[in-house]
Amino acid sequence: MKQRYLIGNLKMNVLSVEEADQYLSVFRREMKGRKQSITTTVIVPPFLYLERFQKALPEAVSLGAQDVFWEKEGSYTGEISPLMLKDIGVEYVIVGHSERRQYGHETNEEIAKKVQALLKWNLRPILCIGETAEERRRGETSSVLEAQLKGAFEGISSLHAEKMIIAYEPRWAIGSDQVPASEDILEAKVIIYRMIASVCGAPVAERISILYGGSVKANVLKQVCFDAQMDGVLIGRESLFPYEVAKIAEIIENYEATEREAVGR
Ligand code: 13P
Repeated sequence: MKQRYLIGNLKMNVLSVEEADQYLSVFRREMKGRKQSITTTVIVPPFLYLERFQKALPEAVSLGAQDVFWEKEGSYTGEISPLMLKDIGVEYVIVGHSERRQYGHETNEEIAKKVQALLKWNLRPILCIGETAEERRRGETSSVLEAQLKGAFEGISSLHAEKMIIAYEPRWAIGSDQVPASEDILEAKVIIYRMIASVCGAPVAERISILYGGSVKANVLKQVCFDAQMDGVLIGRESLFPYEVAKIAEIIENYEATEREAVGR
């Protein structure tokens, strides 16, 4: 069985150093003494607070960034280099989030360049993909997901491909309190798996973690994660409550531990 992931994307929240410190102190308290052997928890704060989070996150929790630029250095005003992230202890980087696609007008080609830059510098990309409500209505989910994935996987080695984490986040489910049925999420997972297998081969596709994101709360975990056979979740609003992060991490950990016991692994 693969590692499970709980990724908390704080987005453009936590508005001061004081708030960041408050969050960290509550989070440390909530995570204290919790055993996490199967679940990797990653917190993804705004760029400005990365260093603060790096210093004060609980030891078992990893650090992620919300975006990156594909060049290493140079005249790119406002951008952040993969090397800068690496230097301050970031391990995971979200790319292609639907909010970057929407407000930053990022294209699949640009996102693929970011993925490749991250892999080159040994950082782990969390590639977000997902269809809009309109695309779903028009029956285009499969072609949209394929187009979002394709460029990112083309021309990379198996070793690199296995470092990728895919987050299936239907745009209409983000921030809406609407969640898809387990079967719909599983169907998306199969599309993603097949697409990766066709480019990198089935053994590689099997090792890649595929997560669900969009209005995840503790009370829908069964539907969006366990029944849908996903390898974890990406949470937005709930990540602003350290208690909820700890609770969701514990539910995933306990569920997986019980499952493994049941199948004797
Ligand atoms: P919400 O959990 O707030 O819907 O956000 C999901 C998301 O976009 C995580 O990246």
